[in-house]
Amino acid sequence: MEFNTDIFSQYDKKWALVSAGTIQKHNTMTVSWGGMGTLWSRPMVTVYIKPCRYTYGFMNDNEYFTVSFYPEECRKALGVMGKLSGRDVDKDKESGLTPLDLGKAVTYKEAEVTILCRKIYAQDLESDRMPQDVIERYYTEEAPHRMFIGEVIEIIPGEAR
Ligand SMILES: Cc1cc2nc3c(=O)[nH]c(=O)nc-3n(C[C@H](O)[C@H](O)[C@H](O)COP(=O)(O)O)c2cc1C
Repeated sequence: MEFNTDIFSQYDKKWALVSAGTIQKHNTMTVSWGGMGTLWSRPMVTVYIKPCRYTYGFMNDNEYFTVSFYPEECRKALGVMGKLSGRDVDKDKESGLTPLDLGKAVTYKEAEVTILCRKIYAQDLESDRMPQDVIERYYTEEAPHRMFIGEVIEIIPGEAR
């Protein structure tokens, strides 16, 4: 299992898609906040999803999720996944990305790499533990993110498919 990257730009600059659910019923959204590291001696991935996202329910209801990364030519599709809501439209269709069934979860054929995760922990960020400038910048209108931590089950390179 290998994934070499500059973690400080991987989410922030490249962005990622988070998907949860089955091939029949899943939802996907763009994220640019997240982490990768170690917890409880396991490799893990962290993402932060606001309760108002349609994806939030899928993250709560499913044991597995994926975090997938894309080549620059997919930037527009990632923009669509980060702007439209699966509540209103078929985002797979609108983005032009091709869903791919991994059995436990879903990714897209266009992904350079997909990290299959088993959800091992979730917790709401609490505004009374945040710096004031963060509250003012990010949380004046919407409830804080829920942090989801996933144990890395498999790192799937795009060319392997
Ligand atoms: C570049 C980018 C990064 C984003 N990062 C996050 C994030 O880390 N967490 C989050 O809750 N929303 C994030 N969003 C917003 C969601 O992707 C967006 O609200 C999306 O439309 C939600 O879709 P859904 O309602 O189908 O879940 C981001 C959007 C963009 C464009």
